[in-house]
Amino acid sequence: MTALFDLNDPALAADRFGYYRRLRETEPVHRSPFGYWVLSRYDDVDALLRAPGASSNFPADPGWAMIRGGPTCPVVKSTSKWMLMQDGLAHRRMRRLIARVFTPRNIDRMRPRIAEVVGRLIDDMGDGEVDLISDLALPMPILVVGELLGIPEQDRAKCRDWTDKVGYVIDPGVTPARRIAMNKAEPEFRAYLLDLMAQRRGNDPEHDLLSVLMSPDADGEQLTDEEIVANILLIFNAGHETTVNLIANGMLALLQQPAALRALRADPGLMGTAVEELSRFDPPVQLAARIVTADTRIGDKVIPAGDTVIVLFDAAGRDPDRYPDPDRLDLARTEPKSLAFSSGPHYCVGAVLGKLEASTVFAELLRRYSDIELASQDLRWHSHFNLRGLTELRLNLKR
Ligand code: HEM
Repeated sequence: MTALFDLNDPALAADRFGYYRRLRETEPVHRSPFGYWVLSRYDDVDALLRAPGASSNFPADPGWAMIRGGPTCPVVKSTSKWMLMQDGLAHRRMRRLIARVFTPRNIDRMRPRIAEVVGRLIDDMGDGEVDLISDLALPMPILVVGELLGIPEQDRAKCRDWTDKVGYVIDPGVTPARRIAMNKAEPEFRAYLLDLMAQRRGNDPEHDLLSVLMSPDADGEQLTDEEIVANILLIFNAGHETTVNLIANGMLALLQQPAALRALRADPGLMGTAVEELSRFDPPVQLAARIVTADTRIGDKVIPAGDTVIVLFDAAGRDPDRYPDPDRLDLARTEPKSLAFSSGPHYCVGAVLGKLEASTVFAELLRRYSDIELASQDLRWHSHFNLRGLTELRLNLKR
């Protein structure tokens, strides 16, 4: 059988892990008729993400820019300043300045506040039938990332709306309606944030992280205003879309594998490895892409310079060469590291925060409810290509 990878194939939606298994077994380094390459083995995905010649600079690619509105349109100008889209030295400089926000100390400081937010949202959710996503998994990370960045509470809903619209920019296919919406949303967000930054400058610096990003580091290096706006947009979006999926996909996996759920109830000490394993089992982000800048050998094939390569996190996470019994959810599994947060220089800068948020939610749900069941088997998934998330997760909760 010839492998064929098509993101729109109904067979992929019907049985994704079976589809990926067939792809991995028949053509793990797959040249798609749509013009890109697709990697599905753990080692190949990891190698590509670490390769020095693997570029993330999509905004510089004329074809990529054109279907998003052209090189001078708002979203292409913004993404050209995202840390996620930088390579080499430019990436290292930006990452160093932005990672100041995500130090273990800063994240640890948020621990009690995250627990408080989760506790309050669960109080409001109550018991009986609930939608875990709209009641808890979505509002929690928006609140947390909003507070982390110092975005006033009353403005967070509109920030979410703007950044959600722009977030579609990294999908491989951008429809005309989405292109128009994202190019309208970006300037609105930009105007809002520049105004907020001007207010901050006029006052004593606050202790939020927008103020940290606006200040020079110990070497006097500083982000420009345009870089701050672009990366706050990125962080606001990356900080909630992914976390909601980690929580909801993870909860669904636990409910579908009751033995694992019982093990976690019996031993809350499993939580650290459990969250990593849940990210492997059903990753919140399905794929990432790179452009290779030099001929690159992967397995028995050479990918020519200039070609685009898609790496599939969910296929790599079920690779039996790296994970014994890959379709089993084993909450004590420690090796190898889940690729769900990427690998190499772009490894998720918010991973510690995202995992802390998810483990706080799982721990508190298990502590408060003696029985958690799926209230509906009718599971619907968002149409995002790169993200994998449910539109709702209806549960029956008993105290
Ligand atoms: C909780 C689940 C999360 C998952 C599964 C996840 C996944 C990822 C992945 C796969 C990448 C790299 C993409 C690539 O290699 O092209 C990434 C990068 C990034 N993530 Fe996350 N993320 C999560 C949470 C967060 C949070 C909570 C934040 C911030 C508040 C965040 C901010 C970022 C940023 C800024 C980058 C770019 C890093 C760079 O380019 O150096 N993420 N994330």
